[in-house]
Amino acid sequence: MIDQSPSIEDRARAVFSARADLYIASASHVDPQVLGWLVEMAQPQPGWRMLDVATGTGHTAFAFAPYVAEIIGIDLTPRMLVEAEKLAAQRGVHNVRFVEADIHELPFDDETFDDAQFDLITCRRAAHHFSGIQEALVEMVRMLKPQGLLLIDDRCVPEDDFIDSVMNRLDWLHDESHVREYRPSQWQTMLEEAGCRVVTLSTYTRQRPLSSLTERVSPHNVAQMHGILTSLTPKQRQKLALVEKDGELHSTHWYVIIAAQKIGG
Ligand SMILES: C[S@@+](CC[C@H](N)C(=O)[O-])C[C@H]1O[C@@H](n2cnc3c(N)ncnc32)[C@H](O)[C@@H]1O
Repeated sequence: MIDQSPSIEDRARAVFSARADLYIASASHVDPQVLGWLVEMAQPQPGWRMLDVATGTGHTAFAFAPYVAEIIGIDLTPRMLVEAEKLAAQRGVHNVRFVEADIHELPFDDETFDDAQFDLITCRRAAHHFSGIQEALVEMVRMLKPQGLLLIDDRCVPEDDFIDSVMNRLDWLHDESHVREYRPSQWQTMLEEAGCRVVTLSTYTRQRPLSSLTERVSPHNVAQMHGILTSLTPKQRQKLALVEKDGELHSTHWYVIIAAQKIGG
């Protein structure tokens, strides 16, 4: 029998097409502190070529544009790239080119994606959507020049079974193209297996309102999120730092930020 259920990529395209406008000014995605950390970690150079994987509406690409020669931003969802193009025009950014592409299936006939093309590859707030994370990382490392730098910023989970399962469930209810937020230890292993040396790996947290997970989400999934959160024990609530603030539930979101260098040539 032929499996006709939508692929993860079909789901991602549907979800991000319907929510593209939300990402233009999403507080989490325009967070200047995190974008600043990425630029500082990379120490970008004027002659560099950069690839921004899953560029979305382009925030990471725009943060690096003043410091490098050229940026290619790829994304699966044309609607996100339309918003990225509009932002680039509004901001007068001329050294970023956006290309529709799936990191798992880059176009064979486009020499942009040949081996060893880029000094820097960034991938921010997107790896948790990749259906084949290891294959995606191998692709990124393949396109890096020898000693090139891979920068990852993504939602993660701490090394805690309860937080791992509850946060991954909440994020799947938020977005059914969610695959997995990984633990720092898993990132370390995945990057080493992809052919990188991890230079720095750290985590940070943000306290976020529940509405950041419920906006444009089906009432059925929102009800399930409320069901999960109201059934937590006091100890579990404490682990998530779940508090009522300004009439709304807030909880911790965990993130990982990593610089990894391609080993060898
Ligand atoms: C939250 S947005 C990215 C945000 C952006 N990187 C930034 O810094 O603002 C996640 C993006 O991942 C893209 N995406 C998901 N799976 C992908 C894949 N397999 N290949 C390329 N892009 C993908 C989605 O289309 C979406 O635009």
